[in-house]
Amino acid sequence: MKRRIGILGATGSIGTQALDVVERHRDKFEVVFLTAHRNYEKLFSLARKFGVKRLGFSDPSLEIPSSGDFEIFRGVEGLVELVSNSGVDRILVATTGTVGIFPTIAAIRRGIDVALANKETLVSFGKVVMEELSNSKSMLIPVDSEHSAIFQLVEGRRDEVKRIILTASGGPFRTWTLQEMARARPEDALKHPTWNMGKKITIDSATMMNKALEIIEAYWLFGTKSIDVVIHPKSIVHSFVQLKDGVLLAHIGFPDMRIPIAYGLSYPERLEDVGKETHPYDLTALEFEKPDFERFPALRLAYEVLEKMGWYPAAMNAANEESVYMFLEGKIGFLDIVRIVEEVIRKMDEESPRDETLRDLLEVDRRARELARRIATL
Ligand SMILES: NC(=O)c1ccc[n+]([C@@H]2O[C@H](COP(=O)([O-])OP(=O)(O)OC[C@H]3O[C@@H](n4cnc5c(N)ncnc54)[C@H](OP(=O)(O)O)[C@@H]3O)[C@@H](O)[C@H]2O)c1
Repeated sequence: MKRRIGILGATGSIGTQALDVVERHRDKFEVVFLTAHRNYEKLFSLARKFGVKRLGFSDPSLEIPSSGDFEIFRGVEGLVELVSNSGVDRILVATTGTVGIFPTIAAIRRGIDVALANKETLVSFGKVVMEELSNSKSMLIPVDSEHSAIFQLVEGRRDEVKRIILTASGGPFRTWTLQEMARARPEDALKHPTWNMGKKITIDSATMMNKALEIIEAYWLFGTKSIDVVIHPKSIVHSFVQLKDGVLLAHIGFPDMRIPIAYGLSYPERLEDVGKETHPYDLTALEFEKPDFERFPALRLAYEVLEKMGWYPAAMNAANEESVYMFLEGKIGFLDIVRIVEEVIRKMDEESPRDETLRDLLEVDRRARELARRIATL
């Protein structure tokens, strides 16, 4: 029987690669709904190609010219409605930003499995998501390549794991000096050496905030704070797991997001013919370097946040998202991104204590964005 799936963020880099996987495996999947934020032209075209009738747009004010025979759902409520009442078995959450939390919770409450690409959801609302999961039959399958790798490596041996080692490409500024980074423009930061991704995550890779978010994501997914990061420019090793006896397990393959996406959609089954196969002869000169916390302070900050947890990840994530957009808008410099995130956290630390309910964390998200914008204008 075909698995009935819905894709949130279908017009993005992950979303379109997911549809590429579906196209190769039409016998395995039926796409029941697709969503985008505003890009209706692309969403209509994808919907026609895959015979999808139900579409969602997260921007509630978007004006859409005649939508033909599609059933349209609007705003976050519309996405939640689509997830809850479309009869899907699994959703892929591939939107950017924290909007992913609402459809994710809706899915978990309905016992629908979630393939999660949208790391921001777990970083900011990890406690809420994990609590919801503990009362549900839903599975959460990570799609982020490093977390998909670890998910596969730890399966059946969670008690044997000593340490998780996330690999990081190092991004476009791996070899740049701080002085050079201070002058970096959005077009420099958007040139990622190995991955072709959406703008927000590409800037996060340049600051290494992407890895910072992934450290927190790994904590929620695998329940350990024993997490290291190594720089691995070729992105062939997707991550390591170190076992109690010192053995190091590695997940290896050419960088191709279709592989973790396919696994997220098909788990526990493994699909054939997803991406290019990797052979040991392809593994020439794999290099691993220590990360530089001075040039990439986001990593140092991530470890401080990991120590404290609570509301800190939500503040780090929201302040970062806002700062990335300000950098892309030309309002702040590249090094200001993480500087502002640090300042937001410091300021929020001086305010009254916060809890970790969804409502509190949404308030942390709002406050962190407001502070980030304010600090940027000082
Ligand atoms: N790309 C990768 O290789 C990769 C790898 C690992 C993890 N991820 C994670 O996957 C997620 C998606 O990344 P991406 O690179 O695919 O991003 P992307 O190319 O920018 O696509 C984002 C998708 O989300 C929609 N969207 C944009 N703003 C939104 C909003 N405010 N509310 C709801 N939906 C919105 C977009 O719709 P419109 O087209 O209408 O704007 C688009 O469908 C991110 O959380 C990222 O961290 C990505």
